[in-house]
Parts: sequence; C-alpha cells; structure tokens
Amino acid sequence: MRSKIQELKKMFDRQLQEAKDSPALEQMRVEFLGKKGNITGLMKELGKVPNEQKKEYGQMINSFKQQLTDQLEVARKELQKQEELMAVNSAEAYDESMPTDHPVGSYHPITLVQRELEEIFKSMGFDVEDYNEIVDDFHCFEALNIPKFHPARDMQDTYYLDTPNQLLKSHTSAAQNAIMIKYGKALKEEGRPIKAVFPGRCFRNEAIDACHENTFFQMEGIMIDKDISISNLIYFMKTMLSEVFERDVTVRLRPGFFPFVEPGFELDIQCLICGGEGCPSCKNSGWLELCPCGMIHPNVLRYGGINTEEEPYKYTGFAFGLGLTRLAMMKYGVKDIRVFNEYDLNALSQFISK
Ligand code: PHE
Repeated sequence: MRSKIQELKKMFDRQLQEAKDSPALEQMRVEFLGKKGNITGLMKELGKVPNEQKKEYGQMINSFKQQLTDQLEVARKELQKQEELMAVNSAEAYDESMPTDHPVGSYHPITLVQRELEEIFKSMGFDVEDYNEIVDDFHCFEALNIPKFHPARDMQDTYYLDTPNQLLKSHTSAAQNAIMIKYGKALKEEGRPIKAVFPGRCFRNEAIDACHENTFFQMEGIMIDKDISISNLIYFMKTMLSEVFERDVTVRLRPGFFPFVEPGFELDIQCLICGGEGCPSCKNSGWLELCPCGMIHPNVLRYGGINTEEEPYKYTGFAFGLGLTRLAMMKYGVKDIRVFNEYDLNALSQFISK
C-alpha cells in the first residue's frame, strides 16, 4: 500500500508539472480525487489489509488525499492568475517598458483649456461632472423649456439616431436636469448650494466653415441656491475669465434669447487685443461675444425638482454655456476652427499647458 501511494504521488507530481491549463487540472482532479479515481481505488483496497493495519493505512490515504487536494488548489490559483495576465497582455499587446524613438505626445488644445477651467472652477467650490453624448429629446430640449415644434429648436438642429428618441446632444445644457436631480437632495436637506460645471462634446447640423463645426466643445455651469442673482453670475464669470486670460477683463451683458433662461444674456468681454478701442479682431466694436448665460427659467428648475415658490424656500440660479472651442481659439490665436478636428499633429502638438 505504501509503495502504491508513493507511485501515485510520483505520477501526480509529473502530471501536475505538465498541466498547462484549467481543463488539464480538472482532468487530474477527476483522475485522482473523483468518485472512480485513484484515491477511491486505494480506499477499496483498504478492505483487503489486515485489521490491525487498517487504521494506519486509512490515515495515510486520508492525508495523501488532503495533500493532493491542497496541491491542486494551489496550482489552480496560480494558473488562474497567469490566464488573467495573459488575457490583459494579449488585449494590450505592447510592452510599456520598451524604449521608443517616437516623439512624446501632447494634449489637445481643447483638453488643455478644459482642464484649466476645471481647476479654476474647482477652486471656486464647483463640482466637475461628466455627461453622455447620446441623450434623449426630454433632456436636450423639453426639460429646458423647449417644447416639441418650438421654433428655438431650429437653432440647434442635431443628429438623430435610428433608435427612437435618441440624439447627439446639441449643447451641454442637456445635462442640467440630471445635475439638478443629483444635487437637489443635498440642497434641500443640507442647504448645500448646487455648483457644478460640466464640459462636453456637442454636435450640430452645421455647414462647416472657419467659424462653424458640426462637433465642438462647451462647458456648462450652473449655480442654484437661495437668493442667487445676476450679480453672482457676473462675479463668477469675471473671476473665471480674468484667470483664463491672466489679466483683469471687463465684461458686459446684452440681452440674449434662450428658452431655458429668463432673463437671458450674451456676455461679451472687452477686446483683449485693442483694449476696447476697436480693431480687426473685434470687428472694430471693442467687444468680443464670449458666453451666453442667464437666470435659470423657473420651468427648468421645476423639471429638475427644485422649488421655485416662496414656501418652504424659493430657489434661484444662473447658468452659462461657455464655448470651449471658441475660448481655445481666442486663447491660442487659432483662426480656423477646423484645425481642432483635423488631427494634424503638426498643428495640434504645439500647444503647451502653462
Ligand atoms: N445652451 C446654449 C447654447 O448652446 C447656451 C446657454 C447655456 C445659454 C446656458 C444660456 C445658459 O446655445
């Protein structure tokens, strides 16, 4: 019996060394530990040994069985690790540590502007949120006080998917409703103001030229609390723009129409090139149109579950929609918007974060 166990152990070890994958291990388990396996065979033979040796051999078989079980378990875990690693490696199929003579990459100018703005807004207590590029009609339009067939939809013709009711978002305002719902509870229960910015890619059915693209980036921002007024809006916009352009900027508001704000504005900054005197960059007006904004329409707040009546609290808020692409053009002096989507690395790799 003893020699039989030793023989089986040798066989087991040899097979274990050769087992290259999980099915091979499973086959071994059946062969040695299964109902009709070698250990069961040994147990059967136990019947034939003299009574006084039964106990000793019985214990031997049991500890042999335990040993094989443990060894198989260790090998199974090891193989599993290797298989997972192989799956990852074959998915990536490259070796990060290999030296390369390719030039080091650089960030897209829009990414640079977006990150810079995110940092500025974070420092003013805003949360940064992400949102989908595919949205439904409700979020892109109806929750923003733009009912079906409203003429304001003409300004934002976009791309519709085959799936019913799905479209590519035409503006970052499409996330307003979701943000209000996400942060509304903390506003009502803890008095925590909603302050969030949400950058994103937007799409419109545009005829493309030097100033228009069908794909561009915006950064939306909203702030909602008790007693939020236009002064708060002006303060935050001025502070943010002074940081972006690294100097004091003068802003002005003109009336602007957007169904989701009331009153609505176009925010202009005094031309940074001529200081307001008038030059070709500002078409001699002394001002540059930069950012539509306004006080959030009560219907939009209500859709977002925010109370607009006096009882128990009346909330108000502002929203703005900064054109990130536009800002990147101004900041880096890019004259043609198409540069951003053309993926010409010579053009795109010259922008460096400050
Ligand atoms: N979503 C508007 C647009 O893309 C801009 C905007 C945002 C206007 C927020 C007012 C307030 O045209």
